[in-house]
Amino acid sequence: MTVSSSTASPLAPDWLQVPADLNALHQPMWAGSVVRNGAGALTVGGVDVHALKEQFGTPLFVMDEADFRSRARAFKDSFDAAFADICGGVDVYYAGKSFLCTAVVKWVEEEGLRLDTASGGELAVAARAGIPGERVALHGNNKSDAEIHRALDMKLGRIVVDSLDELVRVGAIAQARGEQAKVMLRLTPGVHAHTHEFIATAHEDQKFGLSMAADTTAEAGVSAAEEAVAAASAHPGIELLGLHCHIGSQIFEPDGFALAAEKLLRFLAAMQGKYSITMPELDLGGGYGIAYTPVDTPRPAAEIATAMAAVVRSTCAELGIDAPRISIEPGRAIVGSTTFTLYEVGTLKTVRVDAPSGARGDAGNNVTYPRRYVSVDGGMSDNARPVLYDADYSAVLASRTSGAAPQLSRVVGKHCESGDIVVRDVYLPGDVAAGDLLAVPGTGAYCWALSSNYNYLARPGVVAVRDGSARLIVRGETEEDLLNRDMGA
Ligand code: LLP
Repeated sequence: MTVSSSTASPLAPDWLQVPADLNALHQPMWAGSVVRNGAGALTVGGVDVHALKEQFGTPLFVMDEADFRSRARAFKDSFDAAFADICGGVDVYYAGKSFLCTAVVKWVEEEGLRLDTASGGELAVAARAGIPGERVALHGNNKSDAEIHRALDMKLGRIVVDSLDELVRVGAIAQARGEQAKVMLRLTPGVHAHTHEFIATAHEDQKFGLSMAADTTAEAGVSAAEEAVAAASAHPGIELLGLHCHIGSQIFEPDGFALAAEKLLRFLAAMQGKYSITMPELDLGGGYGIAYTPVDTPRPAAEIATAMAAVVRSTCAELGIDAPRISIEPGRAIVGSTTFTLYEVGTLKTVRVDAPSGARGDAGNNVTYPRRYVSVDGGMSDNARPVLYDADYSAVLASRTSGAAPQLSRVVGKHCESGDIVVRDVYLPGDVAAGDLLAVPGTGAYCWALSSNYNYLARPGVVAVRDGSARLIVRGETEEDLLNRDMGA
């Protein structure tokens, strides 16, 4: 393996370092089994990227099944261990919105987890996979009557109610069926997580949840959250299980989770006292961050679990209440790093641009610097996150190693849109050429799930690799699929 070296480009963001070895893999971004083989090609679960391309084509989502299972188990085992003496363990609901298909539901169940869904469609996948309804939760800020009926038909373990309107609706439907819906109330504890605005969800000024802030216009300054507790506990169609919050996504520091837990426990204790009720369950949501680039530093599940357990233990002791059964809902932290997207390189071009003012290493006026555009055979239709959230990703040359010098590159897709960027800034070997394969790690969560057919591109398939063999768990779309819904006139 040849070690390349070069100085940083003034066009590169400050966080991006020139890798000492372009062929090396920064392990936290990759699934456990991803390595280069003797010929320099990337392999996962013992299968190399040439074989994957040959059998399934590109673009392709490539998932390491054993890695998924081990991340799922790590959450279950570490939270169970940390909370054993507090509430006998933790129920871990895999957040299916991050990536969902029948095979994944089966893995989730086999590893002892449960499933969090957010729509009737996600419930349909759960039903097809045969997971018992008792192990499934339903979310959503605007559930339809049909979705509520479906949840009751499937005898879901919990429906997470998002608003007072919805509480009335769920209660009425259950009552008319002569049933009781098992309900948790989603609250916004006002903890502002340090993440992109559109993926932070527990502050006041957004659509989710019941506010815990006292409404000064309401009688006696009662919060929406308290109104909901009072209404739910009195409603004959509702069995109030407890409270829920989710503070946001791609969060590294455990403090926000701990603070939210403390706020919810204080509220739970106050409500139990005031309304003479018991709320046996408390869900603290998901949102644990992963590494998309070498500067991201995710915490191991055990560290997060320990921090959260300490707060739950001390807060319950201080309040003199029995700890409710705790549950969590990780999505990204289980599936995100299990998967990379495999693309084939097509066209390339190099442009010369001025450095932004004050950029490191800039030689000043009238000096321009090269940026190489590397076009791949997918783009914003298989990974919308860079466009939606300015998300940073990384990439490596996957089909071979190279001793060429690093070149600041931008990996772009094939859509008719200049914002169609897959990896905004990455150093790739200067000899990357058409026909090479690139791998972008960390695409397991919210990539396939958010994929589209923009420009009539067919959505890629998802392959699960395990013990030297690869199988499709979601097939890629065909042109026929694309034309199927076009009525022809
Ligand atoms: N629980 C609830 C109620 C949620 O709303 C979410 C994510 C999760 C759990 C799982 O969060 P995770 O552990 O995966 O961070 N599309 C955005 C993320 C949206 C998250 C939506 N809710 C992205 O690509 O970053």
